[in-house]
Amino acid sequence: MAGVARISRRISAVAESATLAIDAKAKALKAAGENVIGFGAGEPDFPTPAHVVEAAAAACRDPRNHKYTPTAGLPELRVAIAEKSLRDSGLSVDAGQVLVTNGGKQAVEQACAVLLDPGDEALLPAPYWTTYPETIRLAGGVVVPVPTSGATGFRVTISQLSAALTPRTKMLLFVSPSNPTGAVYPAAEIEAIGRWALAHGIWVVTDEIYEHLVYGSATQASMPVVVPELADQCVVLNGTAKTYAMTGWRVGWMIGPRDVVDAGTNLQSQTTSNVCNVAQQAALAAVSGDLDATAVMRSAFDRRRRTIVSMLNDIPGVSCVEPEGAFYAFPSFEAMLGRSLRGRVPRTTLDLASLILDEARVAVVPGEAFGAPGYARLSYALGDDDLVEGVSRIGKLLAEAS
Ligand SMILES: Cc1ncc(COP(=O)(O)O)c(C=O)c1O
Repeated sequence: MAGVARISRRISAVAESATLAIDAKAKALKAAGENVIGFGAGEPDFPTPAHVVEAAAAACRDPRNHKYTPTAGLPELRVAIAEKSLRDSGLSVDAGQVLVTNGGKQAVEQACAVLLDPGDEALLPAPYWTTYPETIRLAGGVVVPVPTSGATGFRVTISQLSAALTPRTKMLLFVSPSNPTGAVYPAAEIEAIGRWALAHGIWVVTDEIYEHLVYGSATQASMPVVVPELADQCVVLNGTAKTYAMTGWRVGWMIGPRDVVDAGTNLQSQTTSNVCNVAQQAALAAVSGDLDATAVMRSAFDRRRRTIVSMLNDIPGVSCVEPEGAFYAFPSFEAMLGRSLRGRVPRTTLDLASLILDEARVAVVPGEAFGAPGYARLSYALGDDDLVEGVSRIGKLLAEAS
């Protein structure tokens, strides 16, 4: 096989997840005994609620869960997800429109695989979650980033979308609340974007995984609810990870028109089959239960959000727009680039993040990972004391810049 690449071009082109890479580096330093504070992880620092864990323990003992089950999900879970969607966002769907996936990530992957043909363009507002562009490309699609900035609250406008539109545009990948910026679109803006997509015959894949993590006066709106006519060209992604502190359980779902869900189910039947039944039973307990545990997490995140934003904005050379949802702050470090710091001159936020990790033992994810050089993402899903200590260390280090 001389001259033939060992790894396919398609897979060689996939970039490593920068968030996981930073997390791994921080964890390796910790394991070596270093006192590292990690703002990298995108997961709640709370345990999964006890009643969910109990449901899983009981499911382990039930032989029905030891066998293959339908690819699209346990029938009772699909019904519960349909009911939950109506309860939480007013979205009315039947259970046949729900496909249970291995986390929200598989739902993103399958939505792109089902909708995109080679060469189809997908509009992707930037800053974007690091997985989106790789997934679009893996499906053969062409990523068309639509840059937004802190000045407009990191929310994309209709005129920006229109400017990016071509005859090859097939879909818009939309998320609110946003990872990495924490932006939450008001219902009126979601409606305008939905109507724009409808008018141009564009599919919308809308990621609602942070639906319950909104703060202050912000409220969550679901695009196919505010624009019901869009339902036939809209796929909603969601999951248990962020709402119920269940990142490790790997249960998400996609909701869409029957043909899309059937195609996704076909695909999944040839790849991963049904999601682990024990995890599905845990998800059933989560989505059919109350949101009390989520409310407790939300109030802790809200408190940390206010702390981190005010501490970051107190650092000369750093500015941070107030995030209204999810659990990320996305400050600009642009004013710090090109300055001398401990014998190094960081020119990019990649350089700066590595310098902050080396010199202050604090892990942040550089904006390059999200298509937004000059910024960095700090998850505030960590303990209050660590949060204060971590941002203080960054402030002290940056104060030395000349
Ligand atoms: C915007 C967004 N969508 C989807 C996911 C996928 O979550 P999971 O695969 O853990 O359910 C994440 C996780 O970080 C995310 O931030």
